[in-house]
Amino acid sequence: MQTASELPGKPTSAAATTLSQIMTATETNLYGTVHGGVIMKFVDDVAAACAGRHSGGTALTVFMDEMLFLVPVRVGDLVHASAQVNWTGRTSMEVGVRVVAERWNESVPPTHVASAYLVFVAVDAEGRPRPVPEVLPESPAERRRHAEAGIRREHRLARREAIKRSRETEGESAAADSAPRS
Ligand SMILES: CC(C)(COP(=O)(O)OP(=O)(O)OC[C@H]1O[C@@H](n2cnc3c(N)ncnc32)[C@H](O)[C@@H]1OP(=O)(O)O)[C@@H](O)C(=O)NCCC(=O)NCCS
Repeated sequence: MQTASELPGKPTSAAATTLSQIMTATETNLYGTVHGGVIMKFVDDVAAACAGRHSGGTALTVFMDEMLFLVPVRVGDLVHASAQVNWTGRTSMEVGVRVVAERWNESVPPTHVASAYLVFVAVDAEGRPRPVPEVLPESPAERRRHAEAGIRREHRLARREAIKRSRETEGESAAADSAPRS
């Protein structure tokens, strides 16, 4: 199998992706604003397109991290979700997504409504992890996001290891098998 080092790196901008959608009345929650799950799917869609572009093939969501809802989205708003690859490992990528809404009835600058970080793993035709090109951040903001994504990666792996150790210590292997993976 090809290793990450054999693949030429790609600048962050090469896979940057934006999706736009007008929110309709079929997407509301009980309060009349747009359901958070609709925004989450929108975020996952744009992040998957970005991860697929960067890795040159199928990429699966393995972790949705820090989904932050800042203010409600309203019916009629034109919503834009922008994604970029913040960081790459051997087969995984962290994608950052920023969501803004253009209010349909107000002449104001787009409102920042949500942000999220997701981890994708590139897979081959058999669903096995495959190497991804290294992401090459260029602007100061891209370099900052790259450094911060590395910190989040360390925390995710440390948390996973700590929980694994805790379960081993507690002798709860049977319960751990049926519990969600973190
Ligand atoms: C994606 C999948 C094939 C990876 O399998 P796996 O056995 O975890 O593979 P590995 O252990 O080799 O890990 C692959 C990469 O994912 C990373 N990873 C795995 N679990 C992770 C987690 N919880 N957090 C962060 N990264 C994780 C690993 O660190 C590794 O990254 P690296 O190669 O850059 O170092 C498998 O988890 C899968 O099929 N998941 C279902 C995905 C899916 O269906 N998503 C759709 C949404 S429901």
